[in-house]
Order: sequence, then structure tokens, then C-alpha cells
Amino acid sequence: MAPPTNDRCPIQANSLPKSFEEFDERKTGVKGLIDSGISKIPELFVHHRKVSLEAAPGLQVPIIDLESIDKDEASYKRIVQEVHQASVSWGVFQVVNHGILKDELDNVIKKIKEFNEGNQEVKKKLYSRDRSNKVRFLSNLLQSGAAIWRDTLVCSFEGSLDPTEIPVECREAIMKYKERISRVVDILYELLSVALGLPPDCMKSMDYANTQIFSHYYPACPQPELTMGLHMHTDISFITVLLQDDIGGLQAVHDGYLVDVTPIPGALVVNIGDLLQCYSNEKFKSAEHHVLASKRGPRISVATFVAPVSDLEKPFGPSKLLVSDENPPLYKEFLISDYNKTHHSKKPNTTALSYYKI
Ligand code: OGA
Ligand code: NI
Repeated sequence: MAPPTNDRCPIQANSLPKSFEEFDERKTGVKGLIDSGISKIPELFVHHRKVSLEAAPGLQVPIIDLESIDKDEASYKRIVQEVHQASVSWGVFQVVNHGILKDELDNVIKKIKEFNEGNQEVKKKLYSRDRSNKVRFLSNLLQSGAAIWRDTLVCSFEGSLDPTEIPVECREAIMKYKERISRVVDILYELLSVALGLPPDCMKSMDYANTQIFSHYYPACPQPELTMGLHMHTDISFITVLLQDDIGGLQAVHDGYLVDVTPIPGALVVNIGDLLQCYSNEKFKSAEHHVLASKRGPRISVATFVAPVSDLEKPFGPSKLLVSDENPPLYKEFLISDYNKTHHSKKPNTTALSYYKI
């Protein structure tokens, strides 16, 4: 029998997309698939080679309390010591009492949820893979061969961003959060600098002005064991500050084991990125992490990636203050703009940074 033609049998909105292109053309993301009533996930989301590491149930990612940072010298030194320890041995830690109120954090999550669950036409208009769009909505970066169970709203603050480009549902919340998070980043830069034995303002004075806020929405998944919310990776940033809701699913690799980054109300997760691994000449390491898909959801997280501006003519590399004859640089110098290009053209399962390793 001849297959039905399109005019007799129009493609059902709830039919599963066969290819990534077909999925992309719908412009409604993973949430759009769920809304169309699917009960199994499309093949293109199936991860055939999943990371199989053992879980380390007894371990917990370090939690650093910043409350007493201004109290006295002893408290400050203790906090620096904790940041040092966490950055050397984990590459990821959580901070509490960082200065942003829990209500404000909860509001950001609520607004991101509203955007994702709001009018599909708004999302369709913003759906784009064009990185020159400062604000864009998209899903499924295919970096590990299969699509991932997540939608993302990107707001790129490098240079200037016209706030009216941000969807109205979350505009105010994101702009306010950007301001608040910059203060947390300033504190972290100072602590990380001192922890490396460098002048307190050495990171700040390098003008790490490239801030990108990625607001993620991980819909509940009917077959979570077959896919991933986010594949295993390290962040390409200098540091990443992550706000997550209470669903869970983020896991980091520590000493070859998987460790849950357990949600703590009001906390922020800090990741050492590949660029800080380079700058610190590997004193600090970027941690591998991934996000599991789950039947529970949606899960919302907001990742703020901070990095040097990409049009700097100044080459980037290990801090000169950290290298010597005994400690030779482990990376060649490079331009951030080249690093970004390398990232977007690299082979799967490599990092852009590995291309500059000496
Ligand atoms: C990322 C990331 C984790 C999360 O965006 O790079 O690791 O919980 N996100 O969404
Ligand atoms: Ni990440």
C-alpha cells in the first residue's frame, strides 16, 4: 500500500520528530514535545553511551558559608582556605549567605518557569542558533551525539544588551539577578585570587566582563533512563555560578565517582571553568558534571557563565605570577576569541582548552 500523502494525512503535531532538523523546525523545544502529549521520547534523544560511573553516596560537594566574611581576619582566612580546598580537590562547591535573598532567587526561578510555560509564539520567535542574537531560545546542543532533554533561554551580556530583547515574563527578574550576581562574582573573584596567593583584585582588574545567563528548563521526562538532561562536560567559562531549584539531578565527578550536588534552599553552586583551570596553571581544576533527566519536573536552573571579553587583544594564559622555572606554564597563550571558535568547532568529547595544552 502506498504511504499516505501529506494532504490526506497531515503530519500530526504529536508525531515524534525523526531528525534533529525536524525537531528544530518546530521551534517549541522539548516542552513543545511534552505539550503534544508524547508518552515516549524520540530516538534522537536516546543516549546510547551513557557515563557509567559509580555514585558516592557518602560524599557531599563542599558548602562554604560566606556569612562571616567581613567579621574578622580569622574568619576571612578560614573562608579563603575553604575556597582553596574546594577549588583544588573538587572544582565545584556551594555557597550560602552570599548576599542574595532566597526570595529573590525563588522569584527568578518562578519567572523563568512562567516564560517557558507561557505563549509558544513568543518562544518560536526567539528560537535561534545564531550566536549573534544576544537573546535566544533553543534546545538540545548536540555535543555528545544525542539531543538532551532541556530548553534554554540565553541572555548574552557581552558588550551591551537591550533589556527589551528579553521576554517580558522574565525581563525584570533577569536584569535584577544579573546585577545581584555580579556582586557575588566580585566576592568569588577576590576569594579565588587570594586562595591562589595572588593580589585580591587581580581577576577583577582583568575585566571579566563577558557574562552570559543561560536559564534552563528541564521538562519532566517519560523515559528518563534513556536520555540526559545535560551530558557530561566541564564549563568553558572562567567561573560559573548556578542557581538550581529543589528538584535535583545535577551530579559532579569527584575522584572518579558521581556526587549529587544536592539542592540547598538559597544556595548557589560555583563551578571552576576551564579558563580558570588554565589561568591557575591547573592549581584549580574544572569539574565534570551532568544533569540526569527525571520523571519529576520541570527542573529549572540558571547558569551564569563569566569569562574575559572575547575581543581583548591581550593573550590569555596561565598567570605569570604562578609560573616559574620549577612550575612551567601548562598552556600556550591564546586569544579568547580563538578559544570560543575552537569550542564551537572542536571534536566531541574534547575541551577547547585541551587544544592549547603544552
Ligand atoms: C551548564 C550546567 C547545570 C544545571 O549549563 O553548563 O552545567 O543544573 N548546568 O542546569
Ligand atoms: Ni556546566
